[in-house]
Amino acid sequence: MSYVGVSELLAEADRGRYAVGAFNANNMEIVQAIVEAAELERAPVIMQASQGAISYAGLDYITGLVKMAAYKATVPVALHLDHGTDFEQIVRCVRSGFSSVMYDGSKLTLEENIAVTRKVLEIARPIGVSVEAELGKIGGTEDQVHVSEKEAMFTDPEEAEYFVEQTQVESLAIAIGTAHGQYRGTPQLDFARLEKIKKLVNIPIVLHGSSGVPDDAVKRAIKLGVCKVNIDTNIREIFVSKMREVLAGKPDEIDPRKILGPARQAAVDVIRDKIRVFGSSNMA
Ligand code: G3H
Ligand code: 13P
Ligand code: ZN
Repeated sequence: MSYVGVSELLAEADRGRYAVGAFNANNMEIVQAIVEAAELERAPVIMQASQGAISYAGLDYITGLVKMAAYKATVPVALHLDHGTDFEQIVRCVRSGFSSVMYDGSKLTLEENIAVTRKVLEIARPIGVSVEAELGKIGGTEDQVHVSEKEAMFTDPEEAEYFVEQTQVESLAIAIGTAHGQYRGTPQLDFARLEKIKKLVNIPIVLHGSSGVPDDAVKRAIKLGVCKVNIDTNIREIFVSKMREVLAGKPDEIDPRKILGPARQAAVDVIRDKIRVFGSSNMA
């Protein structure tokens, strides 16, 4: 099977009220873990590369690794650019064969965000590349902000309606209380806001910063319209903790395969669990 379009995957998920897992691909072992987990669960899957992952691994390597994984897979695999902020980089990803790109204009004004999102859609849509946009500020758990300040960063439902009308974007990442990275406490999601946004825009909604969000909250968000759930931190955590565990047991180990292999297997298990929570098992 080769790459599949993300619009189709998300439209199916929207109809079936489940979510497709979008897992960050940072190296070969993680690419392999994502595809292995998806195969074992018979689930469609999105591999996403951030600008950071692309500068670490190289665009050709990331594209090549995911293409190979998709080619060999018997489940649908898509390649998505995560948090693209640089228009030229987005163009390079589209040329290199990504099936979907995110344009993250969340740091811009509403009108600027609309203008650049439209520019991205102009180059992507004619060749069947899907576009995800972001409205509201998702932020990181390291951001020292009070609850009232956090709410000011949340996506405004009416603004979301206007944004989607103006851009006709295919999917929308929203801020409802999640944050990237590790949480200090338990994140509280604004479900009423999500419900209102979904009623007004009626396109697939994307939940970022989903590592560390309790399973019940993720499931409830999916019931209310989330069709793509992004996970990075939970994979990093298990991958590195397994490497540490192996090294602690064998401090003289010099074969990287003996350290990375168990880390890859541990990542498979975590990704399978996520896929089950998202309800996308057996949806391939
Ligand atoms: O949303 C952020 C992702 O976890 C990517 O993080 O920029 O460190 O690759 P990164
Ligand atoms: P986490 O690292 O918090 O899982 O967030 C991932 C993400 O949103 C990638 O875009
Ligand atoms: Zn994100």
